Amino acid sequence: MKLTSGLEAFWEAASKNYPEQVRPGGPLDMEIAMEKVLNPDCSDRFSKPSVRGWMSSIYPKTFDKRSTKIGALALTYKGLIQLKTPFDLALYTRLIWELQPKTILELGSLQGGSGLWFADQMSLLCEDPGHVHSFDLHTKCIHERAKHPLLTFHNIDLSDLAAFDGEMLTNAPHPWLVIDDAHVQIFSVFDYLNRRFLLSGDYYVIEDNPMKADKEMMDGLQLVERAGFLVDTYYTDAFGINVTCAPNAWLRKS
Ligand SMILES: C[S@@+](CC[C@H](N)C(=O)[O-])C[C@H]1O[C@@H](n2cnc3c(N)ncnc32)[C@H](O)[C@@H]1O
Repeated sequence: MKLTSGLEAFWEAASKNYPEQVRPGGPLDMEIAMEKVLNPDCSDRFSKPSVRGWMSSIYPKTFDKRSTKIGALALTYKGLIQLKTPFDLALYTRLIWELQPKTILELGSLQGGSGLWFADQMSLLCEDPGHVHSFDLHTKCIHERAKHPLLTFHNIDLSDLAAFDGEMLTNAPHPWLVIDDAHVQIFSVFDYLNRRFLLSGDYYVIEDNPMKADKEMMDGLQLVERAGFLVDTYYTDAFGINVTCAPNAWLRKS
């Protein structure tokens, strides 16, 4: 889906109907925002991980609901636990609308709140909604209210790659959005899913671990780069450079 169509249509309509108002500084002058903030077609959108700086800007676990409402907003959905920052929720909404994923794989279900949120988002934002598959070792923690026709939970130990249901994954339609929020041998899981299943255009988001920016992460992102993935800065930098719990890790397969 081409996001710019809406922006171009706005610019055309405003220029045609209200030429005085689109002058620089005028009330309908959106040129700077469209060039630098809203425009998904900017030429430097995709970047190799190795040329990016690594300043992580937020630490979701430090959000404290006693001192700010951000914590309360970020950490539940429909009364269930959901460990996502408001920034990342907004970024996923944008990505799900732009990508129109047919399959979302979530690694790490916890209580099922985030899987439920992804399923709701998919049903709201996708013209032809697909399915969310959420994987966890501790599936007995999933709440009975985490139910949705587009959502299936799978019991799996992610440290055992052979435990993935290869047939299910082979048949899962693309494009895919994979979210690794389990933090279990993340680059082995990435390598396994990428080699066998991921296609050009699929997205892979690695939450939380990249904030450490340690040697394991640096080495891992070299693997990611060699595998042909680029950082999509339209997401990592939408709220400021790496204002996300997945710094440098909103990755698109070329
Ligand atoms: C950070 S939580 C997931 C949070 C959830 N996605 C959310 O946004 O609310 C990490 C999850 O990884 C799961 N996990 C830990 N070790 C695992 C393993 N070896 N295999 C599968 N899941 C595992 C935990 O049970 C936990 O539910």
